[in-house]
Amino acid sequence: MKYIDYSWDFRQANTKQFTHCYHNYPAMMIPQIAERILTKYGVDSHLLFDPYCGTGTSLVEANLKGINAIGTDLNPLARLIAKTKTAKINLQVLDLYLKDFNDYSFNLIFDLHRISVVIPEIKNIDFWFDKAVQEKLAHIKTFIDGIEDENVSNFFKIAFSETVRESSFTRNSEFKLFRMTAEQIQKFNPDVFGLMQSKLARNHKGLKAFLAQKQEATSQVYDFNTSNEVRYIENGSIDIVVTSPPYGDSRTTVAYGQFSRLANEWLDVKDANQIDNHLMGGKRQKEICHFDSLALKESLEKIASADEKEPKKLLHFTTTTRSLLKT
Ligand SMILES: C[S@@+](CC[C@H](N)C(=O)[O-])C[C@H]1O[C@@H](n2cnc3c(N)ncnc32)[C@H](O)[C@@H]1O
Repeated sequence: MKYIDYSWDFRQANTKQFTHCYHNYPAMMIPQIAERILTKYGVDSHLLFDPYCGTGTSLVEANLKGINAIGTDLNPLARLIAKTKTAKINLQVLDLYLKDFNDYSFNLIFDLHRISVVIPEIKNIDFWFDKAVQEKLAHIKTFIDGIEDENVSNFFKIAFSETVRESSFTRNSEFKLFRMTAEQIQKFNPDVFGLMQSKLARNHKGLKAFLAQKQEATSQVYDFNTSNEVRYIENGSIDIVVTSPPYGDSRTTVAYGQFSRLANEWLDVKDANQIDNHLMGGKRQKEICHFDSLALKESLEKIASADEKEPKKLLHFTTTTRSLLKT
């Protein structure tokens, strides 16, 4: 008999409170799920680990409960967002930069063509961005490059990342990169500075709410590949793991790298178009390898007896096991 527990249905919940409002991303975790798991199983926890932290939803929820957190992700954009969502940004310094940016963009609206700017070298830039948009984005990038405070700079970068995506010819209804139709492109006239300002204002509100509730806890965001190594974390140091791993093969379903590619390129990430190949499920495994886990070995054998090819597809979805958890 099938039983559905509707208390796990968060369709009506506000999933964009605190710094959760910052940046859209494919297959985000619902904060209320992390919150509920932590309330139920994490009462005495001091350290959470999320091996596929994406934009850091579980890290934010842990920090809101006074629990320190560690996350790792292979996508530089995801790491930037996770870091920024959990950073203790100095509001006074941020407000000074926000005012500066307001003046900077106001002046540019009138003097745009008189102030020269270097457009960064981005592959196929004209395919994805109108010339005038490229110029405006380059001006915003120049402003950001001049910010000295790292946390404040990151705060601007993630607003910029969304501005890049929303002012490009990408179809925003899709996570993968698909170009708008010629007809849509003709009508498309994004307000680049307006987009940036509205992201900054929304994120500022979320940040204030987060800082008002955040306790002393902190988060660390790393870049190791959970599929074949675990770095920086001591054995037996983790109290609780809360994660939402990649769903399915990126060739057919979620493409985190493709979603992030244009923003990563504008943010100077090298080989931004290669990210999906490195992620779990990005490459088919040629050989069947062997694991210490008996349960895993038996399951793969069972699957192989039904379809010889199937275990190879699954292998790239298995994760290194190590005794991270406290016993
Ligand atoms: C479902 S998303 C996580 C979303 C996250 N919970 C959130 O709320 O934003 C899965 C993440 O796993 C990352 N990932 C995929 N393979 C990985 C690997 N081998 N090591 C580390 N991260 C990986 C992807 O870049 C993606 O950000």
